[in-house]
Amino acid sequence: MTPPVTAPTQTADAQPAPSRTVDAAADAEAPPLLRPHAEQAYAGELAALAAADTRVRPPSWRLSPWAVVTYLLGGVLEDGTVISAKYIGSRRLVEVAVATLATDRALLLLGSPGTAKTWLSEHLAAAISGDSTLVVQGTAGTSEDAVRYGWNYARLIAEGPSHDALVPSPVMRAMTRGSVARVEELTRMGAEVQDALITVLSEKTLPIPELSSEIQAVAGFTVIATANDRDRGVNEMSSALRRRFNTVILPLPATEDAEVEIVTRRVAEIGRALALPDEPPALDEVRRVVRIFRELRAGVTADGRTTVRTPTATLSTAEAISVITGGMTLATHFGDGQLRAEDIAAGLLGAVIKDPSTDPVAWQEYLEGVVRARPGWRDLYRACQDLADDGAVAAGGA
Ligand SMILES: Nc1ncnc2c1ncn2[C@@H]1O[C@H](COP(=O)(O)OP(=O)(O)OP(=O)(O)O)[C@@H](O)[C@H]1O
Ligand SMILES: [Mg+2]
Repeated sequence: MTPPVTAPTQTADAQPAPSRTVDAAADAEAPPLLRPHAEQAYAGELAALAAADTRVRPPSWRLSPWAVVTYLLGGVLEDGTVISAKYIGSRRLVEVAVATLATDRALLLLGSPGTAKTWLSEHLAAAISGDSTLVVQGTAGTSEDAVRYGWNYARLIAEGPSHDALVPSPVMRAMTRGSVARVEELTRMGAEVQDALITVLSEKTLPIPELSSEIQAVAGFTVIATANDRDRGVNEMSSALRRRFNTVILPLPATEDAEVEIVTRRVAEIGRALALPDEPPALDEVRRVVRIFRELRAGVTADGRTTVRTPTATLSTAEAISVITGGMTLATHFGDGQLRAEDIAAGLLGAVIKDPSTDPVAWQEYLEGVVRARPGWRDLYRACQDLADDGAVAAGGA
């Protein structure tokens, strides 16, 4: 018996995939990019904004601050072009972020997990510099080279230190181009690596002692850093560095309606990328997931009547998006395409139960105390209980 996994006539390795450019995305033969950069995905909107934008642009900016804010919050241009909203939230907050970048100060986006810090940073860089790819990913292992520069050791040994042997970091490249450099998870980097940014941000130069030289930043260079407020204490930011940033705190969505809108929009976009049917997810299911997340986060039901135990999980908007996307994938491939309670139950459990010793108790209490009694939620209660009976819930609840 041959398993049905024999290679199709054209194997992937028979012909290596061509390196992709934005234009190559139009090639109908090749599979689409899994996740295009913001400047690729929204190239049309960015071009339309640049064409319509008559306002003053700061040096090296592709768009004026007004057009950047319109790109982020959405709007309709005079020629009728619709600009989709990327960030759903306070206009003032976005204006403050954009205005900061138009000064010589750097921007720190701070907030809970899943509050769109990375998302906003990518779209800001795409709108301002047309390039969101100059990124330093902060981890405990990030070295100073990632912020300053490294060396091509073969050339260094053969030729000695020279500009050609130098490997610029994303920050250095942004300095020479006058672009936005992004630093993700700033507080996860060691203190000495963070401090390498201080000279860059205050002097706008990057010394290269080995060449008795330096790089001077071109106007337009700036840094957008993100940091998670749950990580505070991992590597506290030095006050010297903090003073170089204007901080914008991204809040959790203020209302259930706002969060439902965020989830619905992002699910539709992700669904398109995953080639799921072009049908919006049932709004009722999105609302239920969002309500559950908000109630468990807040420790009280939406009507304020019942207190509930808060699980250890973050239950971010980003996780609500993946519960719905996962549910839609189940419904599409294993159901009739309609998102139902049983499609979201498994995702919900996965999102809520992070600590197997305490979270199952909190979840079971919530199911019995809130979900069971809520009119119209019986199907969800049953779907969750069926999963528990199947042993899908980590032990510890009984
Ligand atoms: N207010 C919002 N407007 C639009 N999208 C949002 C909003 N809040 C969350 N999202 C969506 O949530 C998802 C996750 O956001 P993102 O990864 O940027 O979070 P984060 O704040 O960087 O989280 P982490 O701290 O875990 O890195 C994105 O797909 C984003 O579209
Ligand atoms: Mg992030």
